[in-house]
Amino acid sequence: MLLNLLTPNPDYASNFVEGVDMAFYVILGISAFFLIGITVAMIYFVYKYSREKNPKAGNVQDNMKLEILWTVIPTILVMGMFYYGWTGWKNMENFPKDAMQVEVTGRMWSWQFTYPNKKQVLIATKVEGKPQEKMFVLPVNKPVTLHLYSPDVIHAFYVPAFRVKQDVTPGVKNKMWFTPTKIGEYDLYCAEYCGRDHSGMIGKVKVVSQADFDKWYNAKEVVNKDEHPGYTALKMCIGCHSTDGTKKVGPSFKGLFGSERTVSTKGDEHTLTADKAYIINSIENPNADISKGFKGGMMTSYKGQFTEKQYNDIIDYLKTIK
Ligand code: CUA
Repeated sequence: MLLNLLTPNPDYASNFVEGVDMAFYVILGISAFFLIGITVAMIYFVYKYSREKNPKAGNVQDNMKLEILWTVIPTILVMGMFYYGWTGWKNMENFPKDAMQVEVTGRMWSWQFTYPNKKQVLIATKVEGKPQEKMFVLPVNKPVTLHLYSPDVIHAFYVPAFRVKQDVTPGVKNKMWFTPTKIGEYDLYCAEYCGRDHSGMIGKVKVVSQADFDKWYNAKEVVNKDEHPGYTALKMCIGCHSTDGTKKVGPSFKGLFGSERTVSTKGDEHTLTADKAYIINSIENPNADISKGFKGGMMTSYKGQFTEKQYNDIIDYLKTIK
């Protein structure tokens, strides 16, 4: 069907698809009608009123009937577009009370999801250059409300198959809701340019049956025994700090601990040793001592994100990647 060919996304997987697509088709249809109609009329008039056929220009006086007509008809059409847009949008602002509440943190450059039972999923697509298999898992036919939070810059949570998109703005409590209606895997994007690895803020939303979701949701987190707990804690940082010496937005973690660093403190260049106090201060006050060769203002404070034990794990881990 022609309409299917025109659909920007062939997946129909949430309760908002119908409303959003309806508004899209109504506007597309009206626009197509006028594009063709005006073009045809224009070509016809060029022929009909050419200089050859009308050597003397006439003077057209005002025509009340015509003026009313071309005011009333467009008004009706525009109000029709408004109606379909409004009815499609209205429900998005009508948050259901029984929805599952999930906190979503979009940061440079990862998505972090925290479920009501504190279960967490981190989608950082470019962890160590490999795509992540982690997915944002949701049960089918159950409404979910996402509370969107950003510690750094504006991101946008966007799932085309659900026809939902919402800015994730620092300092603003944005939220959105939807009900996934079809089991499957759907692309998740950041739809607001947010810096170097914006295009890396991609992932998948996996919609499963309620039974499968419960199993996944209540399963004890499978701890990868080979993974250092310090590395686990630092995973959300890997987008900007490599563990293999590669220079990214921030200094690499490799060889960091115990090294002599040349840093700039309030514009004052000096050297210091990267000890535990320095590491913790760099996490909590990232712009206090800026490493030579790097720019300040690229990282926000992660104060309160780590427990004392995690800090110790992080230090232990950093010692292993000398
Ligand atoms: Cu986050 Cu673009």
